Amino acid sequence: MAYIVTEACIKCKYKDCIEVGPVEGLHEGENMLAIDPDECIDCGACDPVCPTQAIFPEEEVPDEHAEFIELNKTLAAKWPLITEKKDAMPDADNMAETKGKRSMLIE
Ligand code: F3S
Repeated sequence: MAYIVTEACIKCKYKDCIEVGPVEGLHEGENMLAIDPDECIDCGACDPVCPTQAIFPEEEVPDEHAEFIELNKTLAAKWPLITEKKDAMPDADNMAETKGKRSMLIE
């Protein structure tokens, strides 16, 4: 089991999750973060701090976002590790309220 970043992170990347995780399991893409399931220790620290509620334990990922379980694995393998908090994306506050962002994901 691992924690999964889902659609709500796309075009937001608030990165509060980076400051709380005890391991190096977060990877940064152009407009989303992904959690490496092989590094995640299921501590759950990242889930409550995300302003967009993008993070779920694997077994609680909503059905409509199920593909993100596999996506976190493949994208984390492809994207560089991120260990320091940086600014959120410029339009994050507007995009946090936007649904249906899957097609905006830059893989
Ligand atoms: Fe994304 Fe939430 Fe982290 S918006 S970068 S999962 S704090």
